[in-house]
Amino acid sequence: RLGVMLVGWGGNNGTTVTAAVLANKLGLSWMTKTGRKKANYYGSLLQASTVCLGTGPTGDVYVPFRDLLPMVHPNDIVFDGWDISSLNLAEAMRRAEVLDWPLQEQLWPHLEKMKPRPSIYIPEFIAANQEERADNVLHGSMAEQMEQIRRDIRDFKETSGVDKVIVLWTANTERFCDVVPGLNDTADNLLRAIELGLEVSPSTLFAVASILEGCAYINGSPQNTFVPGAVELAAQRRVFICGDDFKSGQTKLKSVLVDFLVGAGLKTKSIVSYNHLGNNDGKNLSAPQQFRSKEISKSNVVDDTVQANPILYGPQDKPDHCVVIKYVPYVGDSKRALDEYTSEIMMGGTNTIVIHNTCEDSLLASPIILDLAILTELCQRVTFCTEADPEFQGFHSVLSIVAFLCKAPLVPEGTPVVNALFRQRSCIENILRYPKLVDARSHQPQCLWWHPRGVPVLDRGCPAPAGPDVHHGGSQRPGCPTPTSPSARHMGVPVPNPSGPTT
Ligand SMILES: NC(=O)c1ccc[n+]([C@@H]2O[C@H](COP(=O)([O-])OP(=O)(O)OC[C@H]3O[C@@H](n4cnc5c(N)ncnc54)[C@H](O)[C@@H]3O)[C@@H](O)[C@H]2O)c1
Repeated sequence: RLGVMLVGWGGNNGTTVTAAVLANKLGLSWMTKTGRKKANYYGSLLQASTVCLGTGPTGDVYVPFRDLLPMVHPNDIVFDGWDISSLNLAEAMRRAEVLDWPLQEQLWPHLEKMKPRPSIYIPEFIAANQEERADNVLHGSMAEQMEQIRRDIRDFKETSGVDKVIVLWTANTERFCDVVPGLNDTADNLLRAIELGLEVSPSTLFAVASILEGCAYINGSPQNTFVPGAVELAAQRRVFICGDDFKSGQTKLKSVLVDFLVGAGLKTKSIVSYNHLGNNDGKNLSAPQQFRSKEISKSNVVDDTVQANPILYGPQDKPDHCVVIKYVPYVGDSKRALDEYTSEIMMGGTNTIVIHNTCEDSLLASPIILDLAILTELCQRVTFCTEADPEFQGFHSVLSIVAFLCKAPLVPEGTPVVNALFRQRSCIENILRYPKLVDARSHQPQCLWWHPRGVPVLDRGCPAPAGPDVHHGGSQRPGCPTPTSPSARHMGVPVPNPSGPTT
């Protein structure tokens, strides 16, 4: 069982994801004006999409993403968390106005027992309009408050019986922090700044607490939580950090559409994105500094796509890109995103595409939260070695494999950022099916070998296969080394075609 602690548990995302998992676990259904609906995990890459493994005698072979490797099922996630608002999760769910009322009624007795832990509140980091809900806050020095967060993580681990804990920020968007030499540029300086109570944002305090407890930390909002000192601390402690900002609605579509336009040879010259939303996120983003964080996060999403086409774009050339966000309380969580894409086409022509997207924000973000936590947990169990370096190693502490799920992907320093959605999906797909013995590029069957601690690794030195078959996890090709761990059996992922697909 995986424990996920949400910062901002009482918000729209926090309550919706908790309620959705509970509804799935209990197999709930409820009536709406268009008929009976059943709990599901639509919108989750891992739970609701498939991967093509290759072509078999009866055609292409697809398997659910979640069956590629053994991974946590969302129903086995246990939630806990913090919020500056004291409402229990049932009342907070009602405040969010996201789920149909007959479903809320069924969930109420379960959710009303869940109450967010008091949190770190430094008013200057979020909009002043959030102050009225801040009735559940920690007191004491910055270092004492961070200590309490560390105690909360340990307490949750002990009392819930989960095997491990991941912490995820889904609280309000904060303003950006200045990166200042001597303050937050190194791990030591950041820890000293916390001791002295200097400028450190609540999200960075949560990240540091989480890293010091050895728990992966995911940032679902746009602010620069991961100042260089936090990144260095994560690397020192070998703890995963990832983010930033869930890629749920408008930006997800943009990262597909511009890839399509530029990939089709059309020169996109202007992208104008207008949003209005009426939930508490929108209220917070109506303040200029918090809007600025979101604007920055949304702004670079087409850069890599444009840079990939020097036929259309010179070195300094990129489309005009404008993002507007307005707060309109009436529309609640049902965010409206209007986009206009204007491209130059052949012989001086112009092509304009206008899109209206009704986003239902928290219902789009919740499956992303689940995918982020589950992928991060999976990555904690993977080690690999290379021909050049036979020592087993884990992924880099900045976990960029989750870029598909993030608007502004955090990558290790000096690494190019990929925003194009299908390249990001291929990254996850290729890494996950690698131990499934299918090399996506060469389509060569590979040999699976097991790490003594029960972790899959590839042995590229195995004899070439005699014929077109696939080497299933858990079975053994003649001449390959014997698995050393009983956990090897867990690698037997289901393949729908019993004769095995060719690769
Ligand atoms: N829903 C989406 O589609 C989406 C997409 C991308 C990013 N995001 C980001 O996710 C975050 C959450 O979105 P939401 O719609 O749930 O917002 P929300 O305002 O409903 O929830 C945020 C919660 O965080 C709490 N909070 C604020 N500061 C806190 C602190 N220091 N400690 C603990 N709790 C704190 C608030 O009381 C609130 O309950 C926002 O930053 C938003 O920009 C959302």
